[in-house]
Amino acid sequence: MVTIVVAMGFKNEIGAGNQLLWHLPKDLKHFKEITSGHPIIMGRKTFESIGKPLPNRTNIVISRRNDWFQEGILIVGSIKEALKFAKKIDENVFIIGGGDIYKQTLDATDVLEVTRVNAELKADVFFPGIDPKIWLKTSETCIGKDEKHAYDFCFERWERKVKL
Ligand SMILES: NC(=O)c1ccc[n+]([C@@H]2O[C@H](COP(=O)([O-])OP(=O)(O)OC[C@H]3O[C@@H](n4cnc5c(N)ncnc54)[C@H](OP(=O)(O)O)[C@@H]3O)[C@@H](O)[C@H]2O)c1
Repeated sequence: MVTIVVAMGFKNEIGAGNQLLWHLPKDLKHFKEITSGHPIIMGRKTFESIGKPLPNRTNIVISRRNDWFQEGILIVGSIKEALKFAKKIDENVFIIGGGDIYKQTLDATDVLEVTRVNAELKADVFFPGIDPKIWLKTSETCIGKDEKHAYDFCFERWERKVKL
């Protein structure tokens, strides 16, 4: 099963200046719980934004560059290769961004684990959008803002109802 994990605002905004748009510790914990022990696939820019491999997960990073190298990750030259490697390691594969990679993998994805943040923020990277003709929301859990969380947010699970 291929799952996209993404946190987005009301306009599907996900990032600006190669950074996330918010700091939500409970969302980071949720992300860790979902992805730990499984391969994660990301674009080179997202890897650079995180700055290091995420522990307890095989980090697969996609880049077209031949001269780019980092310790502790598997670098591949295409999305096809990333999915091939990841599926060899585990039947549950997670795609963790960013916008460029989400756009190219959405059609090959079975499940979306979305954190919908109750905010509309300036951004330069967006998620392509969830078409309700293709996706069905199967669960939703909302969390209110507090001193550590500047926005309310909901964890939503979407399952593909139309195979492409
Ligand atoms: N809110 C969230 O859940 C979330 C999650 C992740 C990231 N983000 C945010 O998203 C932003 C980064 O996203 P982005 O769209 O700019 O970049 P990205 O998707 O992380 O990475 C793009 C890079 O991936 C490589 N790439 C893309 N398609 C490829 C292909 N078909 N074959 C080979 N390589 C390919 C290229 O690397 P090379 O240039 O090296 O060739 C490309 O420049 C940041 O702001 C980050 O904070 C948000």
